[in-house]
Amino acid sequence: MEKSANRFIWHYVKIFKWALLMLTACVIVRQVANTIEPYFLAKIYNTVIEKQGSDNYWNEVIFYAGIMAIITLSATLISEASMFIVARFVPKIKTIVIKDVFEDVNKQSISFFTNEMTGNISHKVGLLANNTTDFLNACFEVLHMVTRVLATIAVLTWVSWYYTLFVIIWIAIVVLISCKLGEIRRNCSRESGKMSSAANAVIVDSISNYSEIKSFANFKFEKINLLKSLRQLRRAETREKKIMGWIRIAQQLVSILSLVAFVFFSIFMLKIGKTDTTQFIYVNTVFLNSSYLAFQMSWIYNNISKMYGNVVSALDTLAVDPEIVDKKDAKVLKTKKANIRIKDVTFGYQNRNKLFKCLNVDIKAGEKVGLVGLSGSGKSSFVKLISRYYDIDSGSIMINGTDIRDITQESLHKHIATIPQDVCLFNRTLLENIRYGNVDASDRQVEVAAKKAFADIFIKKFKDGYKTKVGDRGIILSGGERQRIAIARAILKNAPILIFDEATSALDSQSETHIQQSLKNLMKGKTVLAIAHRLSTLREMDRILVFDKGKIVEKGNHDELLQKNGLYAKLYKMQVDGFMGNQI
Ligand SMILES: Nc1ncnc2c1ncn2[C@@H]1O[C@H](COP(=O)(O)OP(=O)(O)OP(=O)(O)O)[C@@H](O)[C@H]1O
Ligand SMILES: [Mg+2]
Repeated sequence: MEKSANRFIWHYVKIFKWALLMLTACVIVRQVANTIEPYFLAKIYNTVIEKQGSDNYWNEVIFYAGIMAIITLSATLISEASMFIVARFVPKIKTIVIKDVFEDVNKQSISFFTNEMTGNISHKVGLLANNTTDFLNACFEVLHMVTRVLATIAVLTWVSWYYTLFVIIWIAIVVLISCKLGEIRRNCSRESGKMSSAANAVIVDSISNYSEIKSFANFKFEKINLLKSLRQLRRAETREKKIMGWIRIAQQLVSILSLVAFVFFSIFMLKIGKTDTTQFIYVNTVFLNSSYLAFQMSWIYNNISKMYGNVVSALDTLAVDPEIVDKKDAKVLKTKKANIRIKDVTFGYQNRNKLFKCLNVDIKAGEKVGLVGLSGSGKSSFVKLISRYYDIDSGSIMINGTDIRDITQESLHKHIATIPQDVCLFNRTLLENIRYGNVDASDRQVEVAAKKAFADIFIKKFKDGYKTKVGDRGIILSGGERQRIAIARAILKNAPILIFDEATSALDSQSETHIQQSLKNLMKGKTVLAIAHRLSTLREMDRILVFDKGKIVEKGNHDELLQKNGLYAKLYKMQVDGFMGNQI
């Protein structure tokens, strides 16, 4: 994605160059026609006043009226035709911008999403699409006005350069006043914008924490908080509206004064013979029609700079280079059995001390490895490195002997099925959520996977069965149920590597059995990395790696490690004394 707003907008201008050129032509023709049209009206008035009763009086009047009708009609038709072009290209440009940005955001590395709030990212995508099209629209409004003003100046110069001088001085005054008024208006809008964002933030914060509000019974407190913000917003908006009212009055006054001044000036010009009657009527009509434009131009300028500012701010967030990109000659990984080799790996998160230093682990194809350790010891980070969510600082991670940096990220991720600690589901149906593991799977295959994952049992209890929508992030399901959906999804994916980050929360014994059974089904023949907390999972593992502050301090199976009486035995004892006590 282009980082500079100019180049970003130009990119879409180039795509739609023909439509935009046609629109430009329409605008120019229409405004020139609109400026010429009063000349024939002036001719009609002049003929009526000066030539009434002469031989070809009616012929002349009808001739001028005919020309005027042709010009007006063509200008209107052209203007309406341009509306069709706008109707075709504006929605198209908007959808193309959204599609392009969506594609680019999806190329971003995980760190992009952890550093930015997801709400902010989606807000910026909408902002970028709307403001790019609004900006282009506004440019056409400016073109309308500039053409009109230039045509007016041309007409006035044609009559007499005195008028040009008058108009230039007038434009200078209007621009000065507009800049001053614009500044006052901008300050007011900024203030009310700030208040509006603050009130919005209070609402968003409250709604996203609705369960806390309910459990602390603090609705009144939240309401008072919101009312405080709303009061400030109301004050700021009232002030803005009042100031806008004064600005409008000031503008009207300047417009009226300038019109009166122009009329007197043209009378003077008529008197000294520098203008004839037709020209007198014509210049007054043209000036009357265009005098409002100068102020409008200043408003449009304000709006345009606001839209441009929004495009710049959205690009600041969205147009960042992805941290991890595929090599040009990256290979596509294709395998049914995968061994993993972690060799001398050193890694640290940005601005933090190194988490892993010279880490070495070999995992055979089909081996089941459990990862255990205190919170923050690096288990989740370890598995994230295998999925290449972050790039390591030195060393290498290899799958079947190939460095994962030499493999396309897409094919790597196709070979790894991950069941995260806190499963998040799409706000779609259960069927769609499970099918996410393999979007080509049939309904029947989805049901088989759900059965293997013991998810079928609770799905059938819903009135709509597989067609039940799961709500935001899968809110209608319990943690254990969400995990079983994730397991079903992983069964459908059928990837050779399975990464399982076990939920720390205790499950009732029935759910525990179901999850263990479904995991057993899932793990068959796969290379498994399981961050395990439960004894039942640990017993399934061929080998357990014990992590402590980024180092692997113990290795072996459950019984061997217990005999060692080291960190694992200590952790195990803590768990037995704690929530695991009821499971052995
Ligand atoms: N995105 C991140 N940016 C910076 N530091 C991070 C990030 N993710 C994790 N860390 C830090 O890395 C260290 C290891 O975290 P990690 O999540 O790997 O631990 P864990 O062993 O999985 O812990 P838990 O059992 O609580 O899930 C922690 O100190 C954590 O604060
Ligand atoms: Mg973790």
